[in-house]
Amino acid sequence: MNILVTGGAGFIGSNVTKLLLDEGHSVTVVDNLSKGHKENIDQRATFVQADLLDQPKLEEILPETDAVIHMASLIEVGESVKKPVEFSENNIIGTVKLLEAMKNTGVKKIIFSSSACVYGTPSKLPITEDDPLGEQENPYGITKVTMEEFCILYHSLFNFDVIILRYFNPYGPGELHQPETHAIPNFIKAVLSKNPIPLFWKGEQIRDFIYIDDLAYAHILPLNLSGLHIYNVGTELGVKVINLVNTIFKLVGYETPINHKGEREGDVSSLVASSEKIKKELGWKAEINLEEGLRKTIDFYRSRLSST
Ligand SMILES: NC(=O)c1ccc[n+]([C@@H]2O[C@H](COP(=O)([O-])OP(=O)(O)OC[C@H]3O[C@@H](n4cnc5c(N)ncnc54)[C@H](O)[C@@H]3O)[C@@H](O)[C@H]2O)c1
Repeated sequence: MNILVTGGAGFIGSNVTKLLLDEGHSVTVVDNLSKGHKENIDQRATFVQADLLDQPKLEEILPETDAVIHMASLIEVGESVKKPVEFSENNIIGTVKLLEAMKNTGVKKIIFSSSACVYGTPSKLPITEDDPLGEQENPYGITKVTMEEFCILYHSLFNFDVIILRYFNPYGPGELHQPETHAIPNFIKAVLSKNPIPLFWKGEQIRDFIYIDDLAYAHILPLNLSGLHIYNVGTELGVKVINLVNTIFKLVGYETPINHKGEREGDVSSLVASSEKIKKELGWKAEINLEEGLRKTIDFYRSRLSST
């Protein structure tokens, strides 16, 4: 298939692009490089540096596309609190312009990167797709809920095929966010440079960490689906953050001090996916366990540190 990947220079988009190419698809990456890195993009892909807000440009690129995988977004929660207008324009208006451009060019299939954050504070664990969406505590979360809603609206109004993937906590090689606010890259980078580990909530929070290769594969399976589908993508295993830290210590063979940073507003205490639906309907399941995934991720950051 001819696939257009938005945000393909970013962490998840570049990994999904590579897997699509390995599976024999043709890929065009659209990214404005505001956050992503050109060197992340697989050489086999066609790269167009463009902004989602530039609808005429999208309409030039889209013809001949069979499906869009929409990952372009600003993602940093704290930054979204400081810049709600920028986040709303970029994420929400960017998505509406993409959907309009798709409609105008007759491209009617979209796979959208959503997030477990749409559930807010979950009413029960594990979280299933029919659980209610929760109250959002920051503009980023509101943009994800609204982007989902626009995709669903284009399904009901214009018969788009819409697949919404709600990621839990992705991690793995290639994660180079600036600023980096995610636990795993920050912990590993601290340990490798023998610095204290910054830890909130004494590490008592529970998260469902999903390795990037498993997550990327979840984008391939729904390419032939039609209609509207929403799937959680997680391992179904809740891991206490302090246990994650201890596993990293075990894998590197030494410990560094912990810098306890207290509580952080807006953090949900536990997030664990039920991925029964995607398993049952698409045959997807997480294959890579936390130790194996962390080992590969540590190798990635170690090789970057040794080359600088
Ligand atoms: N990383 C996570 O933990 C996580 C969790 C849940 C959901 N998600 C979602 O997954 C998607 C990808 O996340 P990521 O971690 O790869 O982020 P990332 O920042 O690494 O990648 C996003 C890419 O989108 C590009 N981009 C942003 N705005 C754009 C615009 N207006 N036009 C063109 N390109 C634009 C950026 O340059 C960047 O390359 C996002 O939609 C994010 O909300 C990520």
